[in-house]
Amino acid sequence: MEEQEVFKMPLIGDQAPDFEAVTTTGKMKFSDYAPGKWKILFSHPADFTPVCTTEMSGFAQNQELFAELNTALIGLSIDSIHSHLAWVNNVREKTGVYFQFPIIADLDMKVSKLYGMLQPSESETAAVRAVFFIDPENKIRLIMYYPLNVGRNMNEIIRALKALQFSDKNKVAIPLNWEPGDKVIVPPPKTLEEMDARIADTSCEKVDFYLAKKQL
Ligand code: BEZ
Repeated sequence: MEEQEVFKMPLIGDQAPDFEAVTTTGKMKFSDYAPGKWKILFSHPADFTPVCTTEMSGFAQNQELFAELNTALIGLSIDSIHSHLAWVNNVREKTGVYFQFPIIADLDMKVSKLYGMLQPSESETAAVRAVFFIDPENKIRLIMYYPLNVGRNMNEIIRALKALQFSDKNKVAIPLNWEPGDKVIVPPPKTLEEMDARIADTSCEKVDFYLAKKQL
């Protein structure tokens, strides 16, 4: 039996692997791209396929919101630049939705392999549906992987980005199903002294000292 190539997948907390690529907006060196911004690097299995078209359209329809959230979008698939351009133009002509963010033409699979987007048991030729949330210091902060047959949830992508940014800004943790405006988790005490202070603290909503929420 032929041995399967093993790819190292980047992990949360890792520095985003650097690469150079050809994209629909020109050549890109990732580490020089959109300095000071968050980045969402996402892959789709193939151009001119239905689920991918809905997903890319979802990203494009939220381009302004991502810009307001100081976030640059970068798409990727294992297709040629000619295919990307034809698909972008076709979707624009048919639906009026224009994918203006760069889409990497990863024909040699270099970036897909670097980011664990090529998962051979799922497909040996198409990238899975990956989403990498990368902070302005180019550190990977959240990763989603979806299979070929299930589209992602744009509301959750936006919610997760807002949650990361809110958590960073306010040094709090984010509970289940949090939406902007909801209460957040106050970091739990780490010493007996902090525990007693939290027990005495009446400013937050407590289940117990280790699970306290507050409105910011
Ligand atoms: C799609 O985007 O519809 C799709 C792409 C590759 C495999 C299955 C579905």
